[in-house]
Amino acid sequence: MRNEDIAGTFDASGRGYESSALELINLAAAELVERLNLTSGDDFVDLGCGAGALMAQAEPRLGQGSAVGIDLSRVQLELARERFRLSPIQPRFVQEDAAANGLRNRSADAVGLGLVLPYADRPQQLLKEATRLTRLGGRVAATVIGSPFFGGPGTRLLGLLERRGVAWPEVELQYDPREAVRLALLCEVEDRRLDDVTIEEIEREFWWDDFDAWWRMLKLFGFLPQGRERVMDSIGRDMSEDDRVVDADGKVRCAVRIWLLSATVREGDPWV
Ligand SMILES: C[S@@+](CC[C@H](N)C(=O)[O-])C[C@H]1O[C@@H](n2cnc3c(N)ncnc32)[C@H](O)[C@@H]1O
Repeated sequence: MRNEDIAGTFDASGRGYESSALELINLAAAELVERLNLTSGDDFVDLGCGAGALMAQAEPRLGQGSAVGIDLSRVQLELARERFRLSPIQPRFVQEDAAANGLRNRSADAVGLGLVLPYADRPQQLLKEATRLTRLGGRVAATVIGSPFFGGPGTRLLGLLERRGVAWPEVELQYDPREAVRLALLCEVEDRRLDDVTIEEIEREFWWDDFDAWWRMLKLFGFLPQGRERVMDSIGRDMSEDDRVVDADGKVRCAVRIWLLSATVREGDPWV
């Protein structure tokens, strides 16, 4: 996705982004932060921080440490600043491209990328930036929503898009974990690289109270193709009446897979 479109999507989402999938976002953030092995005094960088879901998990572990969040969306950053106004760590929030940011080399002990890689045209560039920012022995962790996309209902949506000739949204929905590992293993910056690369799969069922809440969440995450409003309205109407999507109690239940990539920054070539 182009940076202007990413910023536009999340500016428009505002507070709605987090509230549309609170449990999912918090679970992904908590698991990611767990893998960063943060200790008091650490310097933490959150690339694609949004309104600060990762920061909220990291904050109690940082003690006297520091935290910086980077995002393209002015509105998400405003929400983050408001959220951490009274925080003891006083995080700094910067509006810029996380894939080409102005932070100093080796200025962090840990870098998190929460649900951000699939928005990037060049996700490896984001991982490289994370590697560049991290001190030797520091940790990098990233989450992505994996396939099948939002369980049965999501897969049904992709099928309908296919049949009606609508290109899948630019955000890579079917993120392949092998690809994520490959990107991480090939990530080399000034003779340093990501080592001990691990990928874990977390699968949970999440539900939305009704079809509109589910559809709204997809829109707020930027998961619905743009520029095809009429056909998307028609797909939405069909799906809202489909009992393979909406359960008898009106809820939409989805088995969601989150892939969690984590690694340690090391020097030299681990293959020799
Ligand atoms: C799905 S939200 C995730 C927010 C937060 N990290 C979380 O875990 O909930 C993706 C965020 O990444 C930001 N983003 C995507 N690509 C970015 C980039 N290249 N540079 C900075 N921010 C980016 C978007 O603006 C958006 O706020």
